[in-house]
Amino acid sequence: MIGAVPTNGGGGDSGDVKGDPEAGADVFASAGCGSCHTLADAESSGTVGPNLDNSSIDYEGALDQITNGGGGMKAYSGTLTEEEIANVAAYVVTARG
Ligand code: HEC
Repeated sequence: MIGAVPTNGGGGDSGDVKGDPEAGADVFASAGCGSCHTLADAESSGTVGPNLDNSSIDYEGALDQITNGGGGMKAYSGTLTEEEIANVAAYVVTARG
């Protein structure tokens, strides 16, 4: 599916995570996710979208939401690469506390 993305172990309860959470942290910051989402690890406190610290969405669900948007969130398939989306999805499902 996503050829060049290294499988990054770690976590085991967030679905079959394929992206790189560390790279995803940079995507989260640069794509402006924090303007709408609270995520303590990213020191963001947006309140437009759900608080991602409290989210129980799995990796596949996050991947779908970020790729396709919906419910007030735009689709990122046009602005982020598949790899960046995989990375930021991995980040949000592993960074939440
Ligand atoms: C303009 C505000 C906005 C921005 C920017 C935004 N989102 Fe969202 N996001 C939302 C809203 C609103 C929802 C709720 C959608 C729904 O309920 O259907 C959401 C939902 C989500 C969900 C699902 C959460 C859940 O528990 O269901 C994830 C994951 C997510 N966003 C990640 C991201 C990431 C990663 C980025 C940056 C690439 C981002 N969002 C940028 C507004 C935003």
